[in-house]
Formats: sequence, structure tokens, C-alpha cells
Amino acid sequence: MELSGDYPHLHPSARAWADEDAPSRVRRIRTDRWIGYARAQAALAAIEDVLSFPKRTRMPNLLLVGPTNNGKTMIVEKFRRSHPPLAAADTEDGMARIPVLKIQMPAGPDELRFFGAILEALGMNQWSRERVAAQQSLATRLMRSTDVRMLIIDELHNVLSGSAVQQRRMLNQLRWLGNELQIPLVGVGTAEALRAIRSDDQLANRFEPLALPVWNEDEAYRRLLSTLEALLPLRAPSGLAQPALAEKIFAMSEGVLGEIVSIVTRAAATAVTSGAEAITAKLIEKSGFISPTGRRRVNV
Ligand SMILES: Nc1ncnc2c1ncn2[C@@H]1O[C@H](COP(=O)(O)OP(=O)(O)O)[C@@H](O)[C@H]1O
Ligand SMILES: [Mg+2]
Repeated sequence: MELSGDYPHLHPSARAWADEDAPSRVRRIRTDRWIGYARAQAALAAIEDVLSFPKRTRMPNLLLVGPTNNGKTMIVEKFRRSHPPLAAADTEDGMARIPVLKIQMPAGPDELRFFGAILEALGMNQWSRERVAAQQSLATRLMRSTDVRMLIIDELHNVLSGSAVQQRRMLNQLRWLGNELQIPLVGVGTAEALRAIRSDDQLANRFEPLALPVWNEDEAYRRLLSTLEALLPLRAPSGLAQPALAEKIFAMSEGVLGEIVSIVTRAAATAVTSGAEAITAKLIEKSGFISPTGRRRVNV
């Protein structure tokens, strides 16, 4: 067994992993990891900025917009983890604190499901499903008593899956909730989410879009590849940021972060199981990745 410290191509935190057996290394490779690329850090800073705003009647809201599979949920999850809840047992008044509450906009969104999602995120499993008004007042009461300071609504584009009347009602609810609690809202979704928000003049004024576009084949992209490579416990260097591999991965990924990560991690797993220990163009081809466009073609 080689000694850790022998792997200068790896980040210090990943060096010890490189000595593990194949199954545990494959498991590590398949586990999501956080990479703080520049746009993600900027987004986190923008969300932090909105959280630190003093209460006022018109709170600033953010809308994190980008294509599917491009890192939006990872960013808001990271943000939430950096503002963790406080359990009731750990507060002086015996009330739990949930500074950042995150929900998903339900598909087929109606107000019952929306407030149901909030109540669930607050840890309530049972609530009356009959009346919107009761659920709305319970949700806002609990959000106040747990001192929720920000509501994050992921998959906001799901608003558009409702009828025109439902859409209008949901957008009204969002406006109402922000006003009532005087907390910032952070919407997360695709360009469709932006379209939904823009259909309501008052909301459009209050939501500042924060774009998370697909990647370009630039220095930031190559840095991402190098960081990723340094975190994957392969015993030999692959040189992912070298032109040949970088270009190949970029073309296959169509610039979408989740695809880039998936191409590299699949190939890395194959590199471990085959004993190759480094990612090559051939390995990438052998690892059976289908590009997003190809996948859409396969879908029937
Ligand atoms: N900051 C990050 N660091 C490392 N991998 C990431 C990061 N953000 C996204 N990914 C990868 O991309 C995938 C899709 O990210 P996700 O946040 O679910 O996208 P979205 O919410 O935009 O659809 C993740 O499962 C992960 O593999
Ligand atoms: Mg998501």
C-alpha cells in the first residue's frame, strides 16, 4: 500500500482517500461534493446580502435563474447549511429557530400544497388540509415564532404548471407572504420562473434576477476541472484541464455543470475499477455517458 502524501496531484484532503480500496473510492467519487466556483461564491454572497437586510416594508427578493442541472439547488442548500436551525432545547425561550426555510414549489401549485410545503419544512406532519386560510395563518404564525428570516422557494417555475387562475393566486400569496413577514424571498428556477415572476408587475419589481448561465470554455471552466480532479481519489494525474480533455468534456456536457461533473465522475469510477487510475479520452468514451441532447432523443 502506498503512503498518503504521495499524490501531489490531489488536494491534501483527498490524498488519504487515494490509498483506500476500489469500492470505497468509487463510493467517494459518486458522492456529491461542493466546489466553490466563482459564480457560486458570488451567488452565496448575494443571498447573504439580502439576508442581512433590516426589516422593512419592501424587502428585496432574489431569483436565482439558470438551466436545469446547473448547480442552483446546490447553492441554496449550501446557503441553508451555513445558517442551520437551532433546536428548541438550545434556545433560552425553548422555541426552535429556523433562520433559512427552504421549500419546493409543488407541481400543480395551489395554496394548500404551498402552505403544506412550508408546514412540512417547519417540521409539522399533520395539519388540516381543508382550509387555505387556516393553513396560511398557521404557517405564518410558525414562521414568526421560529424566527424565519428568509424563505427559499426552489423549482419556482412549477408555478406555471397551474391554471392561469392558480398562477395568479400563487403569485399573490408570494407577494402577501413577503409583505406580511417582512422577510426576503429567494426564488430558484429556470428561465420559466423568471417569466412567471414577470407576469406580475409588482413582483417583477422586487425580484432581482441572479443568473447562473451555462459554462463557457474559459479559464473558470478549466479551473473547475482542475479542482474536480484534485478532489477525486485517483492515484495518477489525468490533466483534465489540458486542451484535448477539456474540449472533449465541454462538448459532451454542453456547458452544463451537472453534466461536466457527471462525465468526469463516471470516467473516474471507470478509472478506478479498470485499474487505469487516470481519466483519458478513451475512458470517457467507455464510461457510457450520453449527452443531454442525446438523452432527449432517446426519451420517447
Ligand atoms: N458547487 C458544486 N460543486 C460540485 N458539484 C456541483 C455543484 N453544483 C452542482 N454540482 C453538480 O451538478 C449537479 C446538479 O446540480 P443541482 O444544484 O441539482 O442543479 P439545478 O438545481 O440547477 O438543477 C449536482 O448533483 C452535482 O453533481
Ligand atoms: Mg434544482
